[in-house]
Amino acid sequence: MAETAARPVTERGQEQGGRMKAELGGVVVLDFGGQYTQLIARRIREQQVFSAILPCTAPVEEIQKLEPAGIVLSGGPSSVYDADAPKCDPQVLALGIPVLGICYGMQWITHTLGGKVERAERREYGRAQLKVDCEGGSESSALFAGVPTALRVWNSHGDHVRSLPEGFRTIGKTENAIAAVENPKQKIYAVEFHPEVNHTERGRELLKNFLFRVCQAEPKWSGAAFIEETVQSIHAKVGNKWAICALSGGVDSTVAAVLVHRAMENRLTNIFVNTGLLRKNEFENTLEMLRARLKLHVIGVDASERFLAQLKGITDPEEKRRRIGREFIAVFAEEAQKLQAGEAHGEIGYLVQGTLYPDVIESVSVKGPSATIKTHHNVGGLPEKMPFALIEPLRDLFKDEVRRMGKELGLPAEVLVKHPFPGPGLAVRLLGEVTRTQLVTLQEADAIVVEEIRSAGLYEKVWQAFAVLLPVRSVGVMGDGRTYGLTVAVRVVESDDAMTADWVKLPGEVLERISTRIVNEVPGVTRVVYDVSSKPPSTIEWE
Ligand code: XMP
Repeated sequence: MAETAARPVTERGQEQGGRMKAELGGVVVLDFGGQYTQLIARRIREQQVFSAILPCTAPVEEIQKLEPAGIVLSGGPSSVYDADAPKCDPQVLALGIPVLGICYGMQWITHTLGGKVERAERREYGRAQLKVDCEGGSESSALFAGVPTALRVWNSHGDHVRSLPEGFRTIGKTENAIAAVENPKQKIYAVEFHPEVNHTERGRELLKNFLFRVCQAEPKWSGAAFIEETVQSIHAKVGNKWAICALSGGVDSTVAAVLVHRAMENRLTNIFVNTGLLRKNEFENTLEMLRARLKLHVIGVDASERFLAQLKGITDPEEKRRRIGREFIAVFAEEAQKLQAGEAHGEIGYLVQGTLYPDVIESVSVKGPSATIKTHHNVGGLPEKMPFALIEPLRDLFKDEVRRMGKELGLPAEVLVKHPFPGPGLAVRLLGEVTRTQLVTLQEADAIVVEEIRSAGLYEKVWQAFAVLLPVRSVGVMGDGRTYGLTVAVRVVESDDAMTADWVKLPGEVLERISTRIVNEVPGVTRVVYDVSSKPPSTIEWE
C-alpha cells in the first residue's frame, strides 16, 4: 500500500502522450493512480524537459514510439499484493531506458524483478529522516550526487521493500525502511519517498540528477514548445470542423481560446454571456479587450434580464447556483444553434474549455460526489446537452503554468493577473434575493475595494479581493439623522490554489479608505465590516 488518498488510474494521459514528440526527448510518467502523479510531470517540466503521463497499462510499443529519455513510475494507493494491483508491462524495465520508481513504483519494480515487498508494521506517513547510505558515499550514486547525506523526506506508504532484486544495492535508508535503491548498470533507480513533494528537502535536485545525470535528457522544452505542440495537435484533431468556446475573460478560458484560435482561427467562435452578475463594467471592458487586443471572434450576449428573472424570489444559495448554471447552458445552447444555422458557418464539432489540472483531480477524487460543498458552475453539463467533443488544452497544467503560457502568448498583463471570479458571479456575493438595485450597490462597493487594493499595490499580492452585500440592516447616524442602512463585508484572501486561504491583514489605512469611500459613495450603505475568517472552516465566497 502506498498513498492514502488517490484517484483511480485514468486514461487522461493519453492526449498529452499524443503531443509528445520523439525529438523532444521527454520523460514518460506511467501513472499508477497516485495523488502526486501530475506533480511529478510538472516538476520535470520545470526543468525544461517535456513530460507526458500515460496510464501504467500503456503498451510498451506506444512508450517506445515516444523515444523517451526516461520513464518514471508513479506512486499509487494499491499494494502489489492486491488482486487488482495496477501493473506495467515488465518489458518497461528491459528497454534500456532509465527508470525511476517512486513509492508504489519502487515496490512494483522490486516485486517484479524478484525482490521482496512486505507490509510494514507501522505506516510511514509524513516526514522522515533519510540517510544516504552507500559504499563510496553519495557521490558514487548518480541520484544523490551533490546532495547532503542527511535529508528530510516526505513519505506516504504502508508496504515497503524488504529485500532487493539481484543487481540492486541500497543507497538510502530511513529509520523504518529501505528508502532508495539503484541498479546503475540497468539504469533503474527507485525511492520510497516522494521527491516531487515540496516537503522533501532537495527533492528537485534528486529529480534533476535523474533527468540530467542518469537520463542525459536535454532541457529543450519551454512554454513556446508547449504552445507549438498544442496548436499542432489541435489542428490535427479538429479536421475541418468548427468549435465554440464559453469565454469569461478570466485567465483560463482566455488562454484556452487564444491557443485554439491559433490552431483554428475564425473557425473558433467565442461566446461571452453577460449574466448581469459580472463586476462593474466588466462585460463591456472584457468584450473590447478580447476583440480589439486579442483579435478573437467573440459574440457578446446580453442575457442579464433572463438571469434576473430566474433569480426572482430565490434566496437559497444552491438553488441560485443551479438556476444560473441551467440558464447559462440554455443561453449558450441557443447561441450555438443560431451559429450552426447561419449560412457561413461549418459544422460545430468541438467545445473549448479552460479546465485546469486541479479541476480534473477534484472531479475524480476518491472522496466522490458526497463531499460537494458548493456546486461549482463552469460550463459542466454542456457536453451532455450537446453533441460536442471537448478541447481542453490546459487540463495538464497548474494555474501558474497557465499564466506563464498566457504571457508567452502575449496576453495583456491585466488578464494574467486578474483575480478568479466565480461562475455565478455576484449572485453568490449578494446574500438573499438578487435584485437589480442590490446588484448595482454591490458592483459599486466591489469596484471601490478593487481600486483601493490596486492603489495600495496589493492587487497582485493577494488571491482575491471583493465586496459582499449582506442582508443585514443596521442603525447609523449621518448628518443629524438616523439611518437604517445596508452592510457591506470586505473579503481579501491569500491563497496558492483556493483549497485553503488566509484572510489578509490589510494595513489600517487601506481598510479605512475602503470603508470611508464605500459609505460616502455607495448610496444606502452605512456599515462596512472586514471578514477575518480563513478557509477552512469558511469558504472564500460567502455562498
Ligand atoms: P470557495 O468559495 O469554494 O471558492 O472557497 C474557491 C475558489 O473558487 C471560486 N469559485 C468558483 N469558481 N465557479 C467557479 O468557476 C463557481 O461556481 C465558483 N464558486 C467559487 C472562488 O471565487 C474561489 O476562488
